This record gives sequence, structure tokens and C-alpha cells, in this order.
Amino acid sequence: MQKRRLVVTAALPYANGDIHIGHLVEYLQTDFWVRFHKMRGHECVYICADDTHGTPIMLRARQDGITPEELIAASYERHVKDFADFEIEFDNFYSTNSQENREFCETIFDRLKENNAIIYKNVPQLYCPNDKMFLPDRFVKGTCPKCDAADQYGDSCESCGTTYSPVDMKDARCAICNTGKPEIRDSEQIFFNIELYRDYLIEWLSQHVSKDVANKLLEWFEEDTKLLPWNISRDAPYFGFEIPGHPGKFFYVWLDAPVGYMASLLNWCNKNNENFDSWWNNRDAELYHFIGKDIVRFHCLFWPALLHSAGYKGPTRVFVHGFLTVNGEKMSKSRGTFINARTYLDHLNPAYLRYYYACKINNTTDDVDLNFEDFVSRVNSDLVGKITNLASRGAQMLNRNLEGKMGVMDAEGRSIVEKFREKAPIIAEHYENRRFSQVPVEVCRLADMANEFFDRKQPWNSIKTDLEETRKVITSILNMFRLLAIYLTPVLPEYSRKVSELLKEDAYTWKSLDRDLENQEISKYEYLAVRVGSEQVEKIIEATKKDMEPVKKQKGSMPEKKNPLKPEIDIDQFNLTDLRVALVETAEVVEGSDKLIRLSLDLGHLGKRSILSGIRDAYPDPSVLNGKLIIVVANLKPRKMRFGVSEGMVLSAGGTDTATLRVISPLGDTQPGDPIG
Ligand code: MSP
Ligand code: ZN
Repeated sequence: MQKRRLVVTAALPYANGDIHIGHLVEYLQTDFWVRFHKMRGHECVYICADDTHGTPIMLRARQDGITPEELIAASYERHVKDFADFEIEFDNFYSTNSQENREFCETIFDRLKENNAIIYKNVPQLYCPNDKMFLPDRFVKGTCPKCDAADQYGDSCESCGTTYSPVDMKDARCAICNTGKPEIRDSEQIFFNIELYRDYLIEWLSQHVSKDVANKLLEWFEEDTKLLPWNISRDAPYFGFEIPGHPGKFFYVWLDAPVGYMASLLNWCNKNNENFDSWWNNRDAELYHFIGKDIVRFHCLFWPALLHSAGYKGPTRVFVHGFLTVNGEKMSKSRGTFINARTYLDHLNPAYLRYYYACKINNTTDDVDLNFEDFVSRVNSDLVGKITNLASRGAQMLNRNLEGKMGVMDAEGRSIVEKFREKAPIIAEHYENRRFSQVPVEVCRLADMANEFFDRKQPWNSIKTDLEETRKVITSILNMFRLLAIYLTPVLPEYSRKVSELLKEDAYTWKSLDRDLENQEISKYEYLAVRVGSEQVEKIIEATKKDMEPVKKQKGSMPEKKNPLKPEIDIDQFNLTDLRVALVETAEVVEGSDKLIRLSLDLGHLGKRSILSGIRDAYPDPSVLNGKLIIVVANLKPRKMRFGVSEGMVLSAGGTDTATLRVISPLGDTQPGDPIG
């Protein structure tokens, strides 16, 4: 068999959220495929990274009061742990926020320019004067220009399905600050002229994706409005890479994200003393991307065109899968089916979901349904009842009654084992072609034969009369089971490792199938898989619902929210706030309120004021404030409150716990009424 060299990628998960069971449809099938090729002795690397750039990540960090770098570092740790615990084994899991990635992006951009594939255009865009930034479509809300549905996103209406430009919306508003009325401003943007690669792409699609994916994409080529230049730039503020020669412009996240595949591979090469070009730019090496159907446009139009233009080899094949549904419906927060990888792991063995997904995933773009009843029954009746039981019954009998020593197989058993082995090419083909669901089907059929043999031979009876004949039967059973475990190794790596330990062998490769295991001692049987109770699934759903409750303080979740930063203001806006020194004449509790203190203040030449302030927790006896100098916002519009009018606001500082709030006193020689700046 010719040794192949394969680079395999799964799409890069966004760094602003946790890995959930929908993502796992992708990362698990890719893991099955990679492990299969490794078992076959090929050179194969599984490459991935976090997708760290873009507006949502920038805003999420801002909202949480942390830097984007802190946010992506925290995500990275959580992602790595979730993947490892699901037995997903990347050769490299990196980050798009890396030096390698920046350099690749810059090189690619230079080459696009050299090829005249870059064009510049002024585009009118919505700008929030309040947040001082251009707004991505998703950050504009307003009324649909077609059907008048309120509260729609800036790109399309969920009610009537129309797509439009946010500029055309009625009463558009900024979804970040929720108040800013977006203005239309011109900004120069940088475009990739994909039209230049029309012919290349038509040819490319016919060879590198499935027919249905190609046909879907080719529809775009017919309407000539659709292969429009692609905007690869975004204006500051943006978390990403600034475009060389264009201060204030950043590469759009969807430009640098797929380049992240190259950056992660290069990072792996450098760590392993390998040459990047011999893995990527090598006609004899193969490059595969696994992606979900929502991101086809980026991977099968923009990406191959970019690579082609920049002189890099394109993907050998892009494999597109469908979406996860749970019990036939979209994953849902309220139904408790939007399940995080971690929540699942808190309750169940990852092997069960790996096995179940293998039963459900094949090489089409159809959605994949996780049905809980079906999940419990496949694990219990097939994985545990049919497959694992062969080992637990056989090995325990051998341990208990036959000194744990295998003998030789009996004649009938040997011929059944031979039948098992004959299935190897078919099962290999199923893996190779990503018809994963056929693997458990074949394995279960074989397991049925083994169980039929087991039950007919009744070793639990013969053990009383004929030890050596029984040893032969069990030796046959364990050889059958062993082949099943080898077939399932890409799906159940940890399970397979335990089987090889039980049988005192090295980790399995596809070659291990050739061997008969005879006259060998085995280890003590350790459990491989046990039945799942439906109450465990219930617990996962409950825990998921609970996670979604609005007030939550979970341990180990995203970094705790500090006090988020408000939108940036400029000096003129700041100067609108008139801060003054005030003398507290009297401070007293407000009857009927357990939060408020009434402060009677002297502001010098500005006169007297009465301010209600919610600092009672910190000052149970307000009279300690009498005679103190404090700072107030003096030009705040008087507010009518339940306990009277408040004519300003007192500055105080402390943690979120109101008991730690203390009024701020001016230092030095100040008089009531003095300005603070
Ligand atoms: N960051 C982009 C990918 C950039 S690749 C250069 C992205 N991230 S994602 O986190 O939203 O999704 C990562 C992968 O998981 C995508 O291929 C996506 O299709 C897949 N899935 C996300 N949710 C899914 C389901 N509910 N079901 C199946 N796959 C899903 O897209
Ligand atoms: Zn705004």
C-alpha cells in the first residue's frame, strides 16, 4: 500500500463560546477519519485552531470588562480541555491570533495586489456616532423595509425572509448601545475581485466537492450579481490584523480564519522539524477540510480563489456535513438541548456519544439527528449488550475458571473469525468514504454471529465438564471480539486501548487484524462500557436548562464579568459633566427606604442642594458624613424619585457589593462649589 500524506482540518471554532454537541458532529467525524488513516499507516495530521478575531469577540470582551486577548486565552483553555476529554486528538490546535497567521495574511494580500485582484471602493455604511464605529449588519436592528416586522437584524428579515442592506431599513438603530441612530458614512474598503477566478472556480468545483454542493454553488455564477467583489477589510476598532499600508483597516475575520489552517500547520511543522511546503504545497500531499453546510461559501468559493491567486495549492476535497438536530428539532436553549460538551462530560462517558454519532454520520449534507431514546437504546443494546458483553462474559470466565490463559481456537470459531476478517476491506472503504454509519452496522452484524456462537456453545455449562474445550470456545470468542474492537478503534480509541491492555497487546493498527491471538495470558477484565440510564440523559437536559437561567454564577464558566466598560466618549463629551465640590451639611436616613440617604449639601456660590444617594449599606449611621467634603455631578437634571427630588449625584467608589461603596472626597485645599476636572 502506498503511503499517503494528508493534512486534515476541521473548521476553527469561534473563541467566544463553548464547544457544544453540534460542533462535535464535525470534530468527531474528522477525528474518526484521521484516526482511521493513522491506523492504516499513513502520514496524517489533524489541524485546527481557535477563530479569535472579529466584532463579536471584541464586543463580548468589552461587555465582560476584559481584553480580547484575555477572552481568547480563556476560551482556548476550555476548548482544548473539552476536545481532549472527548478523545478528539489534534496534532495541533492553535490560534488565528498568531504571528504565523499574520505573516501568511500579509503574504497573501501582497500576492493578490501583484495579481491585480485587489480593488478599492468607497462604500456607504452605517456608523454609530455613539459607539464611534461602523456597524456590521448583525449589529443593526430596525424595521423590515418590506413587511414592517419590527426588531429585525440589519441583513435579513426573519419574518418575511427578505434580505436587504441595513441602509434600507426603517428606523435603524445600533444594537450595541441600543440608542445610537446609525448615520451613513462613506468609508474606503478593500475588495478581492473574485470574478477574475470565475472559470477557475467552475472547474475547481467540478472536482473538489460533492455534486450537490457544487450545483448549489454554481447557482451563484448564473446570477451575475452574485460573484461580486468580496470585501476583505473592516474599519477600526476591530480585533484582528491591521492591513499593511492601510492604517485603521483590518483584515475581515473570514479572510484570516481559513489562513489559520496554514498558520496552524506551519506551527506544527516548526515544532516537529517538518517542512511546510512538503505538506501543503506538494502535489503528492492531500489537503482536506471538514466543514458544516453554513460555511460552504467561504470554503468553496473565496478560499480556493484566494489560494489560487496567491500561488498556494488548494484543498483536495472539502467535505460538507449537515447540522445537528435533537429529537428532530433544532438545538434549543429552552428545551435544554443546546448541550455543551462539558455538560455532557459531567454525566456520561464520551465513548457513548462517539459511538452514537458514528451510527448517524455519513458522507451527505443531511442533518444528523440525536434522538435520546435511540441514543440510550443503541448504547445499551448494541455497544454494551452485543459487543462489550462478548468481552465481559468471555474474559471474566477465562479469568475466573481458566487461570486467564487463552488456548487455541476451536475449528468452528476459527472459521467465524476468518469471516470477521474478510470484512476488513469493506469496513475500510466505509471509513475512507466517510460512510461512518455503516461501520457499526457491519460490526453489529458480526457481533450477532459471535453471540449466536457463544449461546450455542454454552461455555457456562461446558466449563463444568470440559475445561479445555471451553478454553477453545472462549479463545475464539475473544478473537472475534478483538477484531470488532480493532474495527471500532477510530470511533472508540480509549475503549480500544483498554481492549489491547486486556489482551496484553500494543495499541491497535489496521495490521493488527491479521493476527490470531492464541496461547496467551490476558489481564484482569476492567469494565469497558456499562449501560446508560435515561435518567442520566435527563440530568444533562436539566443541567443545560439551568445553565441558561439568566442569573448564573457557574464555576469554570467564561471569565467572570467584571464591571463592563461603557462605550468610549471623547473629551468634549466628558467635559459636559460638571463635577463640583460639595460640603455635607447633614446626612440622614430616608424613612421607608433601606437604601437611600438624604444629603443636604452646600455648593458654595451655586447654592444648596438635596441629593438622594443609595449608599445606606456603607453608612448605616449617615451622620458620620456630616461636615465632609464630597464630589457631586452638579449638572445632572433633577430626578423625581419616590422619596423626593434628587438634584445631582454623589461620586462614590467600591466593589459591586454596595456595602463597600464609599463617597469620594476631594484632596487638598478645596471649597464648596469648586470645579473638578
Ligand atoms: N469560525 C467559523 C469557522 C472558521 S473556519 C476557517 C465557524 N465557527 S463555529 O464555531 O460557528 O462552527 C465551527 C464548525 O462547527 C462549523 O463547521 C459549523 O458548521 C459546525 N457547527 C456549528 N454548529 C453546528 C451544529 N449545530 N451542527 C453541526 N455542525 C455545527 O463557523
Ligand atoms: Zn451604538
